[in-house]
Amino acid sequence: MLSISVEEFLFWKKKQLLKGGDQQSFAILLDCIGGISTGDQNLLNINKEGNLYLKKNLDFLESVWDDHLLKSHPIQYLCGIAFWRDLKLKVSNNVLIPRPESELIIDIVFNIFGKKSKKLFFAELGTGSGAISIALALAYPSWVGIATDIDQDVLEIATENYINSSGQSNLRFYCGHWWTPLERFKGKLDLAISNPPYIPQDTYEELPKEVKNFEPKIALLGGKDGLKHIKEIIQKAPLFLKEKGWLILENHFDQGEKVKQLLLKNKFTSIKIVNDLSGIGRFTIGRYK
Ligand SMILES: C[S@@+](CC[C@H](N)C(=O)[O-])C[C@H]1O[C@@H](n2cnc3c(N)ncnc32)[C@H](O)[C@@H]1O
Repeated sequence: MLSISVEEFLFWKKKQLLKGGDQQSFAILLDCIGGISTGDQNLLNINKEGNLYLKKNLDFLESVWDDHLLKSHPIQYLCGIAFWRDLKLKVSNNVLIPRPESELIIDIVFNIFGKKSKKLFFAELGTGSGAISIALALAYPSWVGIATDIDQDVLEIATENYINSSGQSNLRFYCGHWWTPLERFKGKLDLAISNPPYIPQDTYEELPKEVKNFEPKIALLGGKDGLKHIKEIIQKAPLFLKEKGWLILENHFDQGEKVKQLLLKNKFTSIKIVNDLSGIGRFTIGRYK
């Protein structure tokens, strides 16, 4: 541990932020590499006396920050950590950084099932870091869940995140293409959730470089119109959901109406497009019959 005066540290911090970037990314750097938790960072602004202890020296922290700024390298990948709801999750280059807008999926589940719900069986298709499934498994210890992904390396990270976040054993991880790993559970699911790749090809080509150059293409690209995976998930959902089981999908900002039509065509009822915090129809939900 390296000791430094709070005053010197705050001066250095101000200098780094003047170069660019945002407070939130800087807080991740200080927490994950510097060893100062976000709670302690807030306290430093209140009490500027004394010393603090860093895991790495300022030159090293500055080199990581410069890498982030100059190459648009996401700070979460440089630090190997992403914060999502109240979870601290490991991420690697092949894991999508879980997005703040997806946090609302958990609130949608709370709205449908309430915060105290009887035993229920859910699946998440394309779990990535495991964020959604882990949050649900923790919020509902009596529920049993299966989280799937096409990439075994991604699933290993998700499993590690689950083990690190909980002492529970109500979530399992299976590898395979969308519904394929769930063959054994046909007609048994009360709830299925997916935030699948939904970016249309043309939009993908234009993505900002911090996304296109660093995040896994397989987690983002949804074919020519962006709906390739959503269509497949909806078409097969009736085979796996119980009667009255729920499907919750995240979609691109302008896909809500199309996803709604796909759900109607496949005999879903109670269909609703749910807005994210920016008022965008980001989620489409429905019940199978
Ligand atoms: C948009 S990311 C969502 C990750 C995570 N659920 C989240 O919200 O942060 C989509 C995920 O689907 C996975 N995926 C892509 N194609 C798949 C397929 N054919 N079958 C299963 N999973 C797939 C990707 O590896 C990626 O982890």
